[in-house]
Amino acid sequence: MNVVVVNNFDRMSEEVAKIMQTQISRKPESVLGLATGSSPLCVYRLLGEYHERGLDFSQLTTFNLDEYVGLAPDHPQSYRYYMEENLFSKVNVNKAKTFVPNGVAEDLEEECRRYEDLIKQAGGIDLQILGIGTNAHIGFNEPGTEFGTITQVVDLAPSTIADNSRFFDSPEEVPTQAISMGIKSIMKAKNIVLMANGGSKADAIAAAVKGPVTTKVPASVLQLHPSVTFVVDQAAASKL
Ligand code: F6R
Repeated sequence: MNVVVVNNFDRMSEEVAKIMQTQISRKPESVLGLATGSSPLCVYRLLGEYHERGLDFSQLTTFNLDEYVGLAPDHPQSYRYYMEENLFSKVNVNKAKTFVPNGVAEDLEEECRRYEDLIKQAGGIDLQILGIGTNAHIGFNEPGTEFGTITQVVDLAPSTIADNSRFFDSPEEVPTQAISMGIKSIMKAKNIVLMANGGSKADAIAAAVKGPVTTKVPASVLQLHPSVTFVVDQAAASKL
């Protein structure tokens, strides 16, 4: 596990954006795994700038980690909407090759199977980008999730609902379930980059990097992956 400690959020974002730029330049038809939330916001802004300077996204395939159950793609808090707003509309990605689970599918179990199959058909993920929850979740794989899980419907932990209520008008509006790629789906990616900033992530980062590998700390499973880089700012690294 490679841990890169940088000064602040901006440097973290530059570091991650550069890793993605290198991946896209080396292999324009890469399959990227993408995250939402506040951590990658500036990464996506930088990718938009790289595109203006010539970086070509047209051959990429992308898979997002998760989507809220019950939010349609045009809901402003849905992750499909987030991706359109923050990345897809800023670069020349082929929209038909951008995948986000459908949180309003009639048959959610079938949607999970379909999503996992799509990843397989695309040849697997070359580079997976992750954030981390304050409870050390990756994707929406909350503490206690078995390491063998693939894409499934998950119940969000109370702490996740509380953390994510900042994006909604009230905590009651935060969906209580999501479709999330599983731990096994994430671990199959060839390369993984996890980013974290701020003191609220310090305990999760310390447990993930230094603690025992346990389902109580979902991100600790990454210690078992052959190619993982954590890019963390000083505040998030403060308990390492
Ligand atoms: C988002 C996701 C989550 C977030 C995590 C951190 O698609 O899967 O695991 O990465 O909750 O969120 P932020 O970046 O908002 O602190």
